Amino acid sequence: MKFQLLPLTLLAVFGLAIAAESDYPLDAPAPDGRRPGGTITQEFTPPPLHDEENKDLRRERNYPEQPPTIPHSIRGYQIDRNSNKCLSCHSRANSARTQSPMISFTHYTDRDSQTLGAVAPRRYFCTQCHVPQQDVKPLVENQFETIDELLYRETSPESEGRR
Ligand code: HEC
Ligand code: HEC
Repeated sequence: MKFQLLPLTLLAVFGLAIAAESDYPLDAPAPDGRRPGGTITQEFTPPPLHDEENKDLRRERNYPEQPPTIPHSIRGYQIDRNSNKCLSCHSRANSARTQSPMISFTHYTDRDSQTLGAVAPRRYFCTQCHVPQQDVKPLVENQFETIDELLYRETSPESEGRR
């Protein structure tokens, strides 16, 4: 009987501890991050979602191992245990018929570097790594330079004086 009450007692004690912790002022200014202005408890209307970019033009990768971004809309494309819409175009067997780029052999390799006949389970859920893009202003500044840009800057004549 006593043991049955133990979880409840613990819950009550922890509940009190948490309640005591959170006595911050509700109108404290919110940290200026992706949601600038307002207070911590204030709710804003979120900006509208943009459409997925759908230009069908493959984009340059920033580094060779980058999962390429998806250059077409994937709205309504189902990926679950029973079916994978992406593979109906991108699998080895279907890529020629659909003229879609074939998933590379890495997608057929399991974690022990064994090449399988079918897509490896760890590469089955495509959108874990590949994402569509939207034509919006980036939320944070990005100064990333590709290795080609870096090499060009380092070896071009104008950069001689700086080195
Ligand atoms: C109807 C066929 C079709 C389906 C279904 C499809 N794709 Fe594609 N995909 C293409 C074609 C064709 C291209 C080549 C560029 C283009 O025409 O959009 C492409 C390009 C890509 C690329 C760019 C490859 C690169 O090298 O830049 C990625 C990544 C991709 N698709 C991922 C996916 C994912 C993930 C799904 C499922 C959510 C999917 N695709 C479903 C036909 C398809
Ligand atoms: C664990 C992450 C991951 C998953 C899951 C994954 N990919 Fe990839 N994909 C990559 C990476 C990384 C690359 C680039 C390097 C390479 O080819 O392995 C790539 C490359 C590609 C390419 C370009 C191939 C080429 O040779 O240019 C296509 C198309 C593609 N993936 C489609 C898919 C589809 C369709 C699925 C789902 C069946 C999928 N990927 C699942 C990480 C992933």
